[in-house]
Amino acid sequence: MTQTLTIRRPDDWHIHLRDGHMLKDVVNYTARQFARAIVMPNLTPPVTTVAAGRAYRDRILAALDPTLDFTPLMTCYLTDTIDPSEVIAGHSEGVFTACKLYPANATTNSSHGVTGIKNISSVLDAMQKSGMPLLVHGEVTHKDVDIFDREAVFIDEVMTGIIADYPELKVVFEHITTQEAAEFVAEAGPNVAATITPHHLAFNRNAIFQGGIRPHYYCLPIAKREKHRLALRKAAISGSSKFFLGTDTAPHAIGAKESACGCAGIFNAPYAMESYVKTFDEENALDKLEGFASEHGPQFYGLPLNEGTMTLERRETLVPEKLTVMETNIIPFHAGEALEWSVV
Ligand code: NCD
Ligand code: ZN
Repeated sequence: MTQTLTIRRPDDWHIHLRDGHMLKDVVNYTARQFARAIVMPNLTPPVTTVAAGRAYRDRILAALDPTLDFTPLMTCYLTDTIDPSEVIAGHSEGVFTACKLYPANATTNSSHGVTGIKNISSVLDAMQKSGMPLLVHGEVTHKDVDIFDREAVFIDEVMTGIIADYPELKVVFEHITTQEAAEFVAEAGPNVAATITPHHLAFNRNAIFQGGIRPHYYCLPIAKREKHRLALRKAAISGSSKFFLGTDTAPHAIGAKESACGCAGIFNAPYAMESYVKTFDEENALDKLEGFASEHGPQFYGLPLNEGTMTLERRETLVPEKLTVMETNIIPFHAGEALEWSVV
């Protein structure tokens, strides 16, 4: 039985760092595990200008433990009215690595999101020309579509059209949760990839309702049936360079989760690699973790691979019941569980 595993240092291709006090309290959890991370722009107000992207990056760097070596990669939040020249300037000046497409009102802080793809056609044209990746929250938002079907319907109604109209555009289908999405990405061209979270690999939708309503298992896209979880696990361990690590760590204070209308999001940054390695170990695919966590992402984004290494060992990690953030608590993913692996 493998006891230790050393891999190239991993990156996280999808995180929410928030702002202000919350940012200060959460950023180092990510920086301890990952060399780089793609930082989502869904602040209030969202990050839609080069100046806002640069200022947010400065606040992240200021909040960072100076002993940690971590690079935040910034994203621009697309709106119906965003100016393509702002997006492209941000990319060429090295501020924006990618753009994020939130369908309007799909998730936390997405009310400024895009109401129709035709509204951003000139931006997508410009991104396609300049090789700037489009990161997609792939869910339709009409009220008449069942919440568990929103991702699959998005593929037919939106994603297929984007791929057809912008055949050279680099597209990341973020935090996929369905067999349909895994198959769609696997069959698409090399310019289409997907991130997969640790939580969608670990549990299915029953976890949200186990003996009562469990708000800490609620995130968007919502976890689906078991067959979908199994399809995601198959994709993650497939060795295909189209699938890579993106935790979607999304901290919310305990009061915002345990509420009559609780927020979507799972705070998985503190034990992210311990969670992923558990899945890969259970699948007898430890040899596939390095590609998924450390190689496929930078290859897709056209960035260099990290130089350093991370060692994981088969030694128990006890995940605390809660963490103190912003003078309140956040419940981390795997709270109270003993995980079999530790980051050395
Ligand atoms: C994210 C958040 O809280 O910002 N929530 C989530 O459930 N993943 C937004 C998102 O990525 O959908
Ligand atoms: Zn997210």
